[in-house]
Parts: sequence; C-alpha cells; structure tokens
Amino acid sequence: MTLPDVTQLTLEEKASLTSGASFWYTKPVERAGVPAIMVTDGPHGLRKQREGGDHLGIGDSVPATCFPPAVGLGSSWDVELVERVGEALGAETSIEGVAVLLGPGINIKRSPLCGRNFEYLSEDPIVSGVLGAAMVHGVQSKGVGTSLKHFAANNQEDDRMRSSSDVDPRPLREIYLRGFQRVVEDAQPWTVMCSYNRINGVYASEDPWLLTRVLRDEWGFEGLVVSDWGAVNDRVLGLKAGMDLEMPSSGGVTDAQIVAAVQDGSLDESVLDVAAGRVLDLVRKATEGAGAVAGPLDVDAHHALAREAAGRSIVLLKNDPVSGADAGAEAGAGAPLLPLAKDARIAVIGEFAEKPRYQGAGSSMINPTRLDTALDEIRALAAGEVAYARGFSNAVEVPSEEVVSLREEAVAAASAADVAVVFLGLPARLESEGYDRDDIDLPAPQLDLLDAVLEANPNTVVVLSNGGVVALPFADRVPAILEGWLLGQAGGGATADVLFGDVNPSGKLTETIPLRLEDTPAFLDFPGEFSHVRYGEGLFVGYRWYDARRLPVAFPFGHGLSYTEFSYADAAASVTANGDVLVTVAVTNTGDRAGREVVQVYTSKPNSAVQRPVRELKAFASVALEPGETREVTLTVRRKDLAYWDIRVDGWIVEGGEYVIDVAASSRDIRASVSVTVDGDAVVLPLSRNSSIGEVLSHPIAGPVVQAAIEQMMSGMDGVDAIMPEGVDATKMMMSFPIGRAGMFAAADSNGAVSPEMIDGLIAMGNAGVAAGAEAPQG
Ligand code: BGC
Repeated sequence: MTLPDVTQLTLEEKASLTSGASFWYTKPVERAGVPAIMVTDGPHGLRKQREGGDHLGIGDSVPATCFPPAVGLGSSWDVELVERVGEALGAETSIEGVAVLLGPGINIKRSPLCGRNFEYLSEDPIVSGVLGAAMVHGVQSKGVGTSLKHFAANNQEDDRMRSSSDVDPRPLREIYLRGFQRVVEDAQPWTVMCSYNRINGVYASEDPWLLTRVLRDEWGFEGLVVSDWGAVNDRVLGLKAGMDLEMPSSGGVTDAQIVAAVQDGSLDESVLDVAAGRVLDLVRKATEGAGAVAGPLDVDAHHALAREAAGRSIVLLKNDPVSGADAGAEAGAGAPLLPLAKDARIAVIGEFAEKPRYQGAGSSMINPTRLDTALDEIRALAAGEVAYARGFSNAVEVPSEEVVSLREEAVAAASAADVAVVFLGLPARLESEGYDRDDIDLPAPQLDLLDAVLEANPNTVVVLSNGGVVALPFADRVPAILEGWLLGQAGGGATADVLFGDVNPSGKLTETIPLRLEDTPAFLDFPGEFSHVRYGEGLFVGYRWYDARRLPVAFPFGHGLSYTEFSYADAAASVTANGDVLVTVAVTNTGDRAGREVVQVYTSKPNSAVQRPVRELKAFASVALEPGETREVTLTVRRKDLAYWDIRVDGWIVEGGEYVIDVAASSRDIRASVSVTVDGDAVVLPLSRNSSIGEVLSHPIAGPVVQAAIEQMMSGMDGVDAIMPEGVDATKMMMSFPIGRAGMFAAADSNGAVSPEMIDGLIAMGNAGVAAGAEAPQG
C-alpha cells in the first residue's frame, strides 16, 4: 500500500493524525488512503479488548497467552529466552491484527513499594536494558512494533500523573535513562511511550530535552513517541518537544488546538509535519508487517513456552537439609529438602495453590487462554499422597473462627505429611498499577499460619507469589524457599516442575530482598510530598545502596540457587581494540544434575575521581551445563558502560586507569577478581579564575608553568610546610584554592604579589594552547 507523503495532507488532516481515534486506534485519513492502526497492551501478553476500552484491565479482551510478567521473566537473566517469549508475543499480536504491543516496561525498581514493580525488570539498568532489548527484538521480528515505556523516571504510582521526579544528572543518566538508551540503541523500538510524571519539574510529555535532545539527537531514536494514556498536559508544547502521537482520543479538542496554533503563528507547521510524518511512518511499517504470522494461535505451544519461561523465572532462595529420614527430599535424609521425592506424602497449604496470583492488576491484565494451578499440577506429577488445606483466606474480612479453623486444618495436614509446601503471597489488592504499597509485609495471618505449620512439621517449603518484594522474617527458620513472583498462566505447572526437580531452578534475583523497609534506599524519599519526589539516594539504588552502606540483606541482588553447584576458574579480562573489556571464565557444573548458571560481571574503579558504587553490574550470561561439563564463558563489558556522566562537560566520560572486574554468582558472591587498565577519555576544561590550583596543575599547558612558579616561590622559604601549623598538609589545602585568588597567598610573601594580569595571562595561554591541539588524558 502506498501511503501519501505528509505534503499531500491538509493542515487538519495532519493534526488529526497526531491523536487517537479511540482508546486503541489511530485516526485514518480516508481521503488519502491512510488506514487506522491498532495498538494495545502489553507487556506480557496481548490485551486486545473486544469492545470499548479502558486502561485498568476491566473490559473483556480476547484470550491470549499470559506469559510471566517482567518480575518473573527478568529473573531468568536469559536474553535468548526473553527473545523467544518476545517472538511468541509478536506472533499473537500479528495474528490479532494489532500493530503495536505496548511494552516492554523497563522502569527501575527504585523502591519495593512501587505498586507496579511486577511490570518492571530490575533495580539495575543493565539488566533492564539488555533484557528489554531482547524483548523488543523478539516482538518486532514478527512484523509488529513495541512501545518502550514509561519514558522516564516513572518509579512510583502515587500521584503518577503530576509528580515531579527530582533527580540529579548522574543518577538520571547512569541509572534511570541508561536502560532506555540501551534498548533504543540496540533494538530501535517502533515507539517509545512517554510517562505521566514530570522530571525535574517538566512533564515528560512536553520535555524537549528528554524527547528530542536525549532520545533522538543523542541516542538516534528513529521511531515515534506516543503519550501514555492521558499523559498530555499541553498538546502544542508536547508537539514542539517531540511528542508525536497523543493517546487515547482527545475527541478532536487537541487537534483543533494544533490547527489554531499553526494558524496564529505560534506553532511552525514544519513541527506538525514531522510528527504527522512519523505517524505515517508507523502506519507504513504496520501495513507492511501486517499478516506476517498466520493464525490461528497455537495455544498449546504457547502455553508450553509460558511454562518453560515460568520455570526459568522461579528463584530458589534457600535449600537447606532437614533432619529425619522421611523429610520428603528426593535425595533422602541429610540432603537439601528440594527437590521433593515424587512419592513423598505432601501437604499443599495456602490459597494461592488453588487460586494462583499469576499477574498484576491494571492495564497489563491478560485474559489467559488457560490457567494452571499449582495444586493440580503437583497432583499430576506426584506419585504419593497430596493433601490440600487452604490455610488462610485472602478475603478482606475473615471471621476469627474461620482463621482458626483454616489454621487447624492446615496443621493437621502438615502433621500427617512428610513435607509441607506452603504457598504464601500478596493478595491482589495489595499491589496494583495506580497505587503503591504501604509496607513490604506479608499479611499477618499468613505468617501466623506458617509458624503453626513449622511447629507441626519442620520439613516445610515456602513458595511465594508476589509482584513486589516482601520481607521474609521466617527466612532463618524455613529450610527451603522458592520465590515464585507472578508467573503467568502456566506458573502452577512450572512450580510443580521445580518442586520435583523436573526443572532445575536457575532464576536469580534482579532486585535485592531487604530485611526491612527502613533499610531500602528510597525509604526517606518515597513517595515524596506536594507532587515532588526527591531522588535523594542518588546513584545508590538497589544493591548499590546496600553495598555502599554495608547493610545486611535477606537475599542479595543476583542471588539464586540450583539443585546442582557451579565452580568458576581461570577468570581473565583484556581490553579489545575498540575499548570494550572482554571477560572470560571457565564455569563447571560440579554436581550430578544438568543446570544453568547466571554468570555476572561487576566492575569497580579504585580511587575514582567521582563518587561510585562499590560495584556495578556490567554484563551477564546464562549458561546451560550438563553434569561435569565445563564451558568457557565470554562476557563483554562495553566501554560506554564504564562511563560516568560528567556534569562538567555534560557528557559520558570513561575515567582512565585500573578497573577491578569481579566475576560473580551474585552481587555478594564474588568468585574471582581480575583487573584491567583502561585508557581514559580526554577532559580538558577551560581554565578560569575559578579553576582550582589542583585543576590548573593538571592542565597540559598551564600546569607545568604554575608548577615552576610554585617551586620558585618556595625556594625562598623552607617549603610551605614551614609556615603552617604542625601536621597540616599544606599542599592538600592549596589544591582546592581558586587560582584567581592566589594573589592573596603571594602578597603575604616577600617574593612579591601575583597580579591579576599574570593570572589572566596564564589562563589565556593555557586555553589557547588547548585550542591549538594539546589534550590532557583524564585520570
Ligand atoms: C499505562 C500504560 C498502558 C496504557 C494503556 C496506562 O495507564 O500506564 O502502561 O499501556 O495505560 O492501557
């Protein structure tokens, strides 16, 4: 189909293209042969509403496979798996005739309280960026588009449509934007969805710095910016900033505003042409890609993939041996409790086993094609007796007699079994898009129930269902814990697979599980007040915070056990010709069962000139190993990921010198450390009277001159230390002294004053020398 060029459209037609026709459709321009296209949620399944539209997931939608939400899938740390799930999502999108799937969501988990954390991947930008790019690649390989969201610094639900995320430049660039940058540069999503919130006082939907300078000029984004649903504040300002398509429909109101602004001269028509042109480009891509996947949907195949993905999402937090010959462990007495023997007598306890929580509330709610329950799937795999007790009720009001009778029933079931498998979790109402949590606690009746069960039978496994992390006050007392997150429609089967060892768990935490809410980085600055939230923890988000503060945590970032064990050897690192750092390590499966290890690479910079976290993740790989197998794993740390954002030059700078490379099984399980020396980027700041003596001394031209002058000045004295009180480091003191005020020093000395003219001359000479080509390496 040939679509018109933007020059062939009238002013009104162009304006009409820049907002939706309805909740999910863009506007057609029938006269010119421009069709409407459909976009819809996302991210972990297709939510194509049959009629009408809402962004709360209320209206009925066509059945689609509900894959694990990002909180689960991200725990796989597996690019290949995420891409495969993306391909399946893309196929379902194509089969249903939808042009763009609204996802992935890659916002950073700044606080565990954010009600929408289940839709996001990690507290770390490299995990978010790498897996986000894999998802975009997968979906877009099927001729449909994605919408990378929510751009940017949208890290809470509270007051989300007005709140200003007040973030300093370094954390904004290094933490909150870095993942978006990675996805845009590596995968070119067809669209980016700007968020509701403001950033440092400016609405994301009308921020030219964000939507044009950063996104397009710096990162090279070629697609279209769409607003989050209802995120438009001032439509004309938004258009000027680079916000191309407003969704959903404005009922024509904002189209008329755009036309009026062009007519009264306050909006240049060329700005509208660019936005309308981008909508036409999107429609063109969509029509070219349409029909790439022929239906009908293979429901069974996608359900099987959902089960595989869910199995890979589960994180084995803990797996201790328990006493007693009949503990129910497959490997017998003295072995870790999991996996369970298939013929063990099992008491399944907890409402979630029967009524799974498998996705979060809000715009991402999928109408699944099928829904497994853990109880049925455990029964399907078990060879022994499986009893079930509800244990607790997730209802808001539960009469106390019911609490007691449910608990007694559970205790009786646990007492009669070899092992109790207790399903605990967050009731759906406690976390959702649109509002945040008040605490990170599991409901007290569930904790009480667990205590009672543990007393009756210490051979207890806890399986968790939660979208945001929860405190685990029982972690020391329970031998085995599976973090089951929200696992999508096949999570029940996947849980059974892991419990019995048909799947060896390989998930690892993409977010820290803290001991207490009070320990978390944003505790004192969340959710802010009067529509401002100060990102006071700066760079120290997630593990960066706990490590810098040396705080104990329940389970660290990157942690996750397996039913086998892995050893690491021969770690090495070298700098390649293009400046990337290549890390190699030999990983061996030392156990007797096939498994997967997620190898992690962290870097740190000793004696850095800028503030740095203790260590930061830079690369990772998921490696499958047969028992006894060794593989050399190669990981690339991109040079650009070593860079910090330098506020003096408003740019990325790689500091030169030694970097420590930690090869690790988690952020707190470092298996090997090696180091490399990296060439730094040149940073030459113009000299001024306000430059410190230290800065002048490190200047390539002015430095040697000043050094000589200082030496000469000192020659008449017994060194500057002679005139300073004992023990004071005079040189250190001088380093931060602005050169423009050096005259003060010199005047007190008999060698004569340093005149302002001499200083200005020095500055001019230094700046001119640099302009003529001299450079100073940084670091
Ligand atoms: C959400 C988006 C979603 C949109 C459409 C908004 O409320 O923030 O993530 O894509 O609604 O449902």
